[in-house]
Amino acid sequence: MPSKEELKQRILALKREKNAVILAHNYQIPDIQDIADFLGDSLALAIKAKETEADVIVFCGVDFMAETAAILNPDKKVIIPDTGAKCPLAAMVNPEELKRMKEEHPNAAVVSYVNTTAETKALSDYCCTSANAVKVVESIPEKEIIFTPDRNLGAYVKRHVKDKEIILWPGFCATHDSLTVEDFTAIKREHPEAEIMVHPECRPEVIDIADHVFSTEGMVKYARASDKREFIVGTEKDMAYRLKKENPKKVFYAIDRAVCPPMKKTGLENLLEALEKMGPVVKIPEKTAEKARIPIERMIAIGRGEMTS
Ligand code: 13P
Repeated sequence: MPSKEELKQRILALKREKNAVILAHNYQIPDIQDIADFLGDSLALAIKAKETEADVIVFCGVDFMAETAAILNPDKKVIIPDTGAKCPLAAMVNPEELKRMKEEHPNAAVVSYVNTTAETKALSDYCCTSANAVKVVESIPEKEIIFTPDRNLGAYVKRHVKDKEIILWPGFCATHDSLTVEDFTAIKREHPEAEIMVHPECRPEVIDIADHVFSTEGMVKYARASDKREFIVGTEKDMAYRLKKENPKKVFYAIDRAVCPPMKKTGLENLLEALEKMGPVVKIPEKTAEKARIPIERMIAIGRGEMTS
């Protein structure tokens, strides 16, 4: 069995040989975070995927992120080390049901969180991420919006956008939706100076007690700039690894049971194997990709629009 160090050296050598770039989400395990060329939230990674000059994109994240990279780069090879890394939230939209909903609301624009399948994106007018959901909804002319699939992110958008009628799809992220007010108050009792940062996929009552609501990259930016020293991290637990690494003088309290299982499917072994075999390759039928590209490009053009509370 090769050591971790040997695996890392082989990954780096193959990456150079194949002119590949390794993009990794902030929830990846520490070994993957350490070896990635770019770490980020969904929006930052979509932008990197669009801008890269590499021939091959190795995506360490979940299916919808790799699919977004493939849709934006029809001429590049996009590889995902484990095809079982599927986001359960993205699977919560049934395209036939979405088509029916669109028929029932012919004047509504469909805004889909980037955590959706390519098929759902192809049925959508706009995509958004947690970093720009409010800005995307504010920027569109339609008064009626069908928001898929995360009901908590949709409810968060509703708090900030009062002049639209927003119809929520009943989806949720099990990792964030299971976080409770008590999870945070228990840590806060021990560390009263700590600020609470949460992801907008958390439930409304958790949003109510948070000091800040951010995408994962929003948390990185805020923690870096803040003169506070202690933070409670209301999202997937490995987010705290990046925060600690980049801010060694600050303290971050993670919620240890906040684990996203599909994000843990990528490790050094299957990353190396993916580079050796140049696969599994992410393939999207061209017709679907063509339609899905439109809402993704719109989202990228709108850019970041993080709220501060
Ligand atoms: P971010 O875009 O904020 O990193 O969130 C991605 C995600 O899937 C959260 O569950």
